[in-house]
Amino acid sequence: METLELYTSPDQRERHRLAPLAKPNLDFTPELEAEMRPLYEKVKNVVTPMEWPHYAPLIKAINDLKKQRNAVILAHNYMTPEIFHCVGDFQGDSLQLAREAANVEAEVIIQAGVHFMAETSKLMNPDKTILIPDLEAGCSLAASITADDVKRLRAAYPGVPVVTYVNTSAAVKAECDICCTSSNAVKVVESLGAPRVLLIPDEYLAKYVATQTDVEIIAWKGRCEVHERFTAEEIETMREAEPGLKVIAHPECPPEVIDIADFTGSTSGMINWVKDNHPEKVMLVTECSMSSNVAVEVPDTQFIRPCNLCPHMKRISLEKILDALLYMQHEVTIDPEVAERARRSVERMVNLTN
Ligand code: 13P
Ligand code: SF4
Repeated sequence: METLELYTSPDQRERHRLAPLAKPNLDFTPELEAEMRPLYEKVKNVVTPMEWPHYAPLIKAINDLKKQRNAVILAHNYMTPEIFHCVGDFQGDSLQLAREAANVEAEVIIQAGVHFMAETSKLMNPDKTILIPDLEAGCSLAASITADDVKRLRAAYPGVPVVTYVNTSAAVKAECDICCTSSNAVKVVESLGAPRVLLIPDEYLAKYVATQTDVEIIAWKGRCEVHERFTAEEIETMREAEPGLKVIAHPECPPEVIDIADFTGSTSGMINWVKDNHPEKVMLVTECSMSSNVAVEVPDTQFIRPCNLCPHMKRISLEKILDALLYMQHEVTIDPEVAERARRSVERMVNLTN
C-alpha cells in the first residue's frame, strides 16, 4: 500500500501539529455516563454525583485529545482529584515530576502544577513542547527571590555554596550551585562538603534542614503563603478534639508546627507515610486537595482537613487543560543561555539522588 505524504515541508507538518482543534461535544450522554462509570467508581468518595456530569465529558475529551496531540499530563500531588486521578498520566512531588519529565517520550507535556514545575520539565527535556494551562499559576516562594538577589547574596557570602529550592525561576536556578526539593534538601546540603551553605528561598525549609544537619544554614526570607498560615495552636486544638490523631507536616510549615508533628516530609513522603502506617485518623498539614487524593487510595483512614488552598495550583482546571490541548497553549520556554546554567543545578540534584 502506498502512503501519501500530506506535507510538503517539515514546517508545514509542524504547523499542522500545532494547529487549533475544534472544541469537542461536552454533553453528558447516557453512553458517556456508562463509559465513564468505572472511573467514577474510583473517585466517588471525593467527587460528588452533582460534579460528575460536568467533569466526565471534559475528562473524556482530554484523554482523547492527549492521544491526538501525543501529549502526557504531569500532575502534582496538589491537583484536585478529577485532575489527579482522571487525566494525570504521572503523579508525584516536585522531584518525582522532574524525573518523569526527563523520561517522557511523547511530544507534548502538559504541566498540571505551577510555573516553576513547567520550567523544570523544560530543563529536563528541552526538546519537548511544555504547556501550562494557566500562565498565572505562580508560587509565593518563586516570587520571593530574583537572580539579582542571588548575585548579591554571593557577593555578601563569598565562597559559600548556594542551594536553591526547586520552587524558584529558571533564572534563579541558573545563579545557584545545585537545586533541591523538600524530599532531598538535607542530602543535597550535606553533599557539598561545606561548613556553611546558603539555602534559598524558603526560610522555614531552611530552618527545618538546619535541625537535621551539622552544616550551618543561611536562609532567605521567602515563605509559602499556604504553609505559613498553619499554627501550632490550631493543631493542638485538632488533637484535643480528635484523640489519636496523627499529624503529618510539610517542611514549608513554621518550625513550631513541625516540632509537634508526628512526621515531616515532602508531599510524596507524606503520602507514603500514610500508606505505610494506615493511621486511623490523620491530618496532612499541607495543601487541602492532597487529602482527597490520598483518601482515594487509603479509604479506611479518616482525614481531618485543615483546608488551606494554594491559589496558584487551583488555577489549573479541567477546562484549562482542555484548552491547552485544543489550542496548544501556553508554551513555557526558557532563554537557552539561562536554561543551560539552570539545567546544571537541576541535573546535579537529580544525579545525586538517583
Ligand atoms: P513537594 O516537592 O513536596 O511536592 O512540594 C512542592 C510544593 O510546592 C509544596 O508546597
Ligand atoms: Fe508555592 Fe506554596 Fe503553592 Fe507550593 S503551596 S506552589 S510552595 S505557594
